[in-house]
Amino acid sequence: MFQGRVALVTGGTRGIGAAITEMLAGSGAAVAAGYNRGKESAEKFAQHMSGKGATVTIHQGRVDDPADCSRVAKEVLDRFGRVDYLVNNAGITVDKTVRKMTVDDWRQVLDVNLSGAFQMTKSVLEHMIERGSGRIVNISSVIGETGNVGQANYAASKAGLFGFTKSLALEMAQRGITVNCVAPGFIETEMVAAIPEAALAKVVEKIPQRRLGRPDEVARVVRFLLEDDSSYITGAVYSINGGLDM
Ligand SMILES: NC(=O)c1ccc[n+]([C@@H]2O[C@H](COP(=O)([O-])OP(=O)(O)OC[C@H]3O[C@@H](n4cnc5c(N)ncnc54)[C@H](OP(=O)(O)O)[C@@H]3O)[C@@H](O)[C@H]2O)c1
Repeated sequence: MFQGRVALVTGGTRGIGAAITEMLAGSGAAVAAGYNRGKESAEKFAQHMSGKGATVTIHQGRVDDPADCSRVAKEVLDRFGRVDYLVNNAGITVDKTVRKMTVDDWRQVLDVNLSGAFQMTKSVLEHMIERGSGRIVNISSVIGETGNVGQANYAASKAGLFGFTKSLALEMAQRGITVNCVAPGFIETEMVAAIPEAALAKVVEKIPQRRLGRPDEVARVVRFLLEDDSSYITGAVYSINGGLDM
């Protein structure tokens, strides 16, 4: 499906990002997977992928550092000569109520989740414009729609991605570049494993399907949005949450 195509997935060696890398690589794309602190697990993941015959390279860099974003984009372009797909997936949480949240807690999350997507996009956008084609998918969250106690910074960053996605989609609408968002609900990854068990049980009770989502269930929608035949979908937000926002 994606033979000859190149994807750049931030945070692409762990959790939802790893599932996206795996799904795109399994569909024939070469995938450049970004990581930040998890060198060892990124190397293990790359080995696992190459054992499956996939083309996956790993690239260390902080999405909250514009110089790192440019360097990673250059590494990918030098290696593969093109970037067809950018998936802005890297994200963090620093959960506290607003009363306890410091300015640093606020900034850190906004810097990674929102500014990181902006900076990584800037790093490949001119290349996509020159080629007259590209697909960008931003990984937001249901929390960006609903808000959540203890997650004002995270909710603001994820809501910000909706506005960023739609604005960029408008700017790129006549340039062959689509820009979309997916908004997962609660998905089984280390991020969700950090939620205390009792709190998580309460969350699951509120999900109409009464279960957490799987990373591959998110990856499948991302792949769909990257397909050539998805060319008329832009500025859209896809919910993947077992019915949580109904
Ligand atoms: N899990 C959920 O329920 C859920 C729900 C809705 C939305 N999401 C969103 O989906 C995305 C992936 O979540 P996940 O659950 O898979 O999280 P995760 O398992 O915690 O993985 C986060 C990924 O982001 C990378 N990352 C973190 N800070 C970074 C930085 N400064 N620069 C570059 N990369 C950085 C990490 O790299 P290292 O490991 O190398 O540090 C890791 O690969 C996030 O944007 C998250 O907000 C998740």
